Amino acid sequence: MTEMTDVHPRLEIKNLQRAYGGRAVVDDVSLKIMPGQVTCLLGPSGCGKSTTLRMIAGVEMQDSGTIHVDGKLICDTVFRVPPERREIGLMFQDFALFPHLSVADNVGFGLKTGTKAERRARIEELLERVDLLRFIDGYPHQLSGGEQQRVALARALAPRPKIMLMDEPFSGLDNRLRDDIRDETLGILKEEGTAVLLVTHEPEEAMRMADEIALMRDGKIVQQGAPYNVYTRPVDRASVAFFSDANVLRAEVSGALAHTVFGRFLAPGVPDGTQVDIVFRPQHLRIDFDRAGKGPLPTSTDGTAARAVVARARFMGNESLVEFVMDHDGSTLRATVPNVFLPQPGAVMWLTVRRDRCFVFPVHAAG
Ligand SMILES: Nc1ncnc2c1ncn2[C@@H]1O[C@H](COP(=O)(O)OP(=O)(O)OP(=O)(O)O)[C@@H](O)[C@H]1O
Ligand SMILES: [Mg+2]
Repeated sequence: MTEMTDVHPRLEIKNLQRAYGGRAVVDDVSLKIMPGQVTCLLGPSGCGKSTTLRMIAGVEMQDSGTIHVDGKLICDTVFRVPPERREIGLMFQDFALFPHLSVADNVGFGLKTGTKAERRARIEELLERVDLLRFIDGYPHQLSGGEQQRVALARALAPRPKIMLMDEPFSGLDNRLRDDIRDETLGILKEEGTAVLLVTHEPEEAMRMADEIALMRDGKIVQQGAPYNVYTRPVDRASVAFFSDANVLRAEVSGALAHTVFGRFLAPGVPDGTQVDIVFRPQHLRIDFDRAGKGPLPTSTDGTAARAVVARARFMGNESLVEFVMDHDGSTLRATVPNVFLPQPGAVMWLTVRRDRCFVFPVHAAG
């Protein structure tokens, strides 16, 4: 019988901590990634993503915390497996091929074991997979940027790393090419059972690529889970705003209800007198036309309609973005509407909010 204890995450980091000049830039970060799983470390610039990756790669030392690969300790504050022995592949935005080496020699660079014929076979297999076998005897300068990137991918994969660390590896490519290379890359990594930690600050990229998203802010992982869960059950206002534009209504709670111009919102367990932010995405603002000075009647799903005036409307391609100024307090709300919807500035409309798509967060006093 196999014991369950044999099943370890491919990569596990526990309580990683790193400070520069007394400021914690990576603050108690823990993560587990199983073989073949892709985790995206998603967060704004400067939140500590690359620093986390560098510690896992072994090119930077943590102040505290541990790193395990397949259940084996590879690094704590006293013991440290050197970077070249960690079986970790790296792919960074500024990947560089060796210009004086052929494509074959670039891909074979990290292959230290096996006979010459075995190494050649592995190189051919990988170039075949990234669809570049015809360039095997060519040189980097004969390839386009996207082709060079695929060679870099083949090079990183050649030694069959257990873990692949990728730091915004696709950001130098145009949109279409990026989509293709992303999907291709993911396919190969999944087939090889590699655990992937991919750093990005683009939510679309994370949702497209990730089995799991770890949302990072100010050195901490604030939320972690499947993309759908992170998107639909955000932990705070900033997490909503990280994925899309967010509308916010400030309101006060009494009797476990937050009172707004759109009606009352459930605020279970929130004490009377507490300020809350009711946060929702622009696609969940519903628009109705003015009918002789009236809007739609109140309903239990959409609450009460509030009067607003169009400030401006913009066509965005797949959708239109309409900005409203609310009658009751002059605040601004944004709606996105599928297709073309371009009302004139000054037009009167009635707005309702999809209440099942609203998030209610108590406002914490600053300081
Ligand atoms: N060697 C260093 N010395 C001092 N501060 C550093 C050092 N390396 C990183 N930092 C600081 O640590 C913070 C996190 O940096 P890091 O590169 O991890 O951010 P990031 O999340 O990768 O951002 P980006 O998306 O812009 O790449 C930044 O404020 C950065 O200035
Ligand atoms: Mg970075």
